[in-house]
Amino acid sequence: MEEKKKIIIDTDCGSDDAMAIAMALNDPAYEVQLITAVSGNVPMRQAATNALTTIEYAGTYEPPVYMGCDKMLLKELECAYETHGNDGMGDIGLVPKRLKVSEGNGVVKMIEALNASKPGEIDIVALGPLTNLAIAIRLDYEAMKRAGRIVIMGTAGLGEGNVSPVAEFNIWQDAEAAKIVAESGLEHIVFVGWDACLGEAMLTPDEIKTIEESGPLGKFAIECNRCLMELNKERFGDYYLDMADPSAMAAALYPDCVERCEKYYCEVDISNGPSYGAVLVDRSNVLGKEPNVYICSKLYADKYKEYIYKTLKVK
Ligand code: BDR
Ligand code: CA
Repeated sequence: MEEKKKIIIDTDCGSDDAMAIAMALNDPAYEVQLITAVSGNVPMRQAATNALTTIEYAGTYEPPVYMGCDKMLLKELECAYETHGNDGMGDIGLVPKRLKVSEGNGVVKMIEALNASKPGEIDIVALGPLTNLAIAIRLDYEAMKRAGRIVIMGTAGLGEGNVSPVAEFNIWQDAEAAKIVAESGLEHIVFVGWDACLGEAMLTPDEIKTIEESGPLGKFAIECNRCLMELNKERFGDYYLDMADPSAMAAALYPDCVERCEKYYCEVDISNGPSYGAVLVDRSNVLGKEPNVYICSKLYADKYKEYIYKTLKVK
């Protein structure tokens, strides 16, 4: 039997993180070694709690969940309650029935796991603001160099922002942290932009219904996204779901679904103004600088959705 590829998930677990985590835990080719929580959609403790709930619903194995940073490096935390609900999970009473947060600091645990691994053995998938990753880079760069790919849901990709005309939530929530990560010199950093989950990649009302009616896992993955769906009715005219974190998870675990991903020179704006959190992507290499990160901006919608169906056990 082929050995499973290991991943660490870093998350500000709101409702789309929950779907992404459930997908990873149901992909037999991967083993989620540990999960670290960070503030973003909700404060860090709530994110950790939501990750535990998700593990219970995913119904496979139970990786430890550790608490990471609850404050951003410099910026005040501004949670996305209107997008994911006050508890980040649609306010429908989802709580873990059995699981508890594990002892130890998430950033330290991430570093320890990487130091104990062979180079390239563990990939990191980051689904929230990059505070934990930035601290880990500052604390033990050599450990972070042992990671294989670092796949991040973040940036507007090659499109528009979702918290400002130019900035995407995860980068904007802690742009200083994102800057540290983008400029770290680590080899294989992939930002999956918000544009990757839009257009044909959005789940349509019919697809949402199919997933929801497929069984307890599908029902969980859709129902916790209730607030986001309501918001989308206003934004997009119908009950669509733009599943940002699942698109990053799919790009990380099932690279066949990636249609466009190129390495560019990118710079994160931390200036105190309207473009805070924007990421300059030098598509034509006007600045003549060495490309530093990959930007994934498009998925093959059919393959991506097949992967969602497969991992959420939709027949
Ligand atoms: C990102 O921000 C959060 O609201 C989502 O969980 C996702 O990680 C999308 O911009
Ligand atoms: Ca997230």
